[in-house]
Amino acid sequence: MPNAPTDHQKTRPTVAVVGGGICGLGIGWRLAAAGCRVDVFDRGVAGREASWAAAGMLAARVETEPGEEPLLALNLESQAMWPDFAQELEAASDIALGYRDEGTLVVAAHRDDAAELRNTYEFHRSLDLDMEWLTGGQARRIEPHLAPGVSAGVLSKGDHQVDNRQLVLALRDAFMRAGGTLHENTPVEAIDVEAEQAKGVQVGGRRFDADMVLLAAGAWSYDIDGVPPAARPPVRPLKGQMLSLRMDPRAPIMDHVLWGPGIYIVPRRDGTLILGATVEEKGFDTDLTAGGIFRLLEAAWEILPQIEELPINEMWVGFRPTSRDDAPILGATPVEGLVVATGHHRNGVLLAPLTIDAVSAFMLDGVAPKSIETFGIDRFAVRQTQTANAGSQE
Ligand code: GLY
Repeated sequence: MPNAPTDHQKTRPTVAVVGGGICGLGIGWRLAAAGCRVDVFDRGVAGREASWAAAGMLAARVETEPGEEPLLALNLESQAMWPDFAQELEAASDIALGYRDEGTLVVAAHRDDAAELRNTYEFHRSLDLDMEWLTGGQARRIEPHLAPGVSAGVLSKGDHQVDNRQLVLALRDAFMRAGGTLHENTPVEAIDVEAEQAKGVQVGGRRFDADMVLLAAGAWSYDIDGVPPAARPPVRPLKGQMLSLRMDPRAPIMDHVLWGPGIYIVPRRDGTLILGATVEEKGFDTDLTAGGIFRLLEAAWEILPQIEELPINEMWVGFRPTSRDDAPILGATPVEGLVVATGHHRNGVLLAPLTIDAVSAFMLDGVAPKSIETFGIDRFAVRQTQTANAGSQE
């Protein structure tokens, strides 16, 4: 049971957080630092799902695809927050985040791929994104181990990376140092809602009272019992298989984040080289497949043949929490006191600083910052009502 609240805590809401990933720990950290009593519940070890599986790319520019223009401003705003956020979190936790700002290089594996790369480059330039077109030779001067067949490249100096696993550990530490309580291996069985108001969570068959509940359970956020349909964030798991190789950290074969057709490659300072990722609509299927891993290795080898000699470190599967429009779902729900932070799709690490600041500000002040106004669950309301009506007529 929680400790008795201090005088300062009595003036702040008590908060139960469902999910101890980057969102849950980060928002919990801000709330605990502001004097709230905060309890984060995770059904396993905190931060070991999508937050751990990610590659940590802060790639607002190169990852923007046609149709994602409304999300771009949010991504760029969060990206701009990253350097200060990293510094603040490192100070709060004494854990280095491995932020790297060499930039991101996107390459065409062969002459045939160059036309497609050029189209993507023109699209990004039409959005005023700062990118530099390179010949194959210029790309190889930046990353000398690129394959001789690489025929062109685009350099995005503003797209950086951070070690997402260090980020998880740092948020966990900062949250607990701020006075938050972490309950690991403690699944939330349901969110208790009475008279359209959140009252707490059910844990181990008992009510855990809270003034506010934050639902931040990633791809599992849709399936928590007790939440009325209009407040259930419509997210699904989007499976990704990944692996890592091991470089000699004293002689790394590359420094930039590298993208090629069907692959991204992310070098860490400790020599870990991350290769990702498949994109599969397979529900919560945890299988690593020969085909999935083969295609990642083949695509990586096409642009960086030196990987052939590197030992395999680890292989894993993660589940992106993906909403219907690939954008996050942040802030209020139709249930008073129930707040959501999920649906970050491919951008969870990138959007961490903005999500953490904006959602915690909303929970403390009751006013959603302008940047997240259009990313609420209410944007799905019409479609949810229509779906419910169609279902009742069947
Ligand atoms: N942002 C990288 C991925 O989702 O695979």
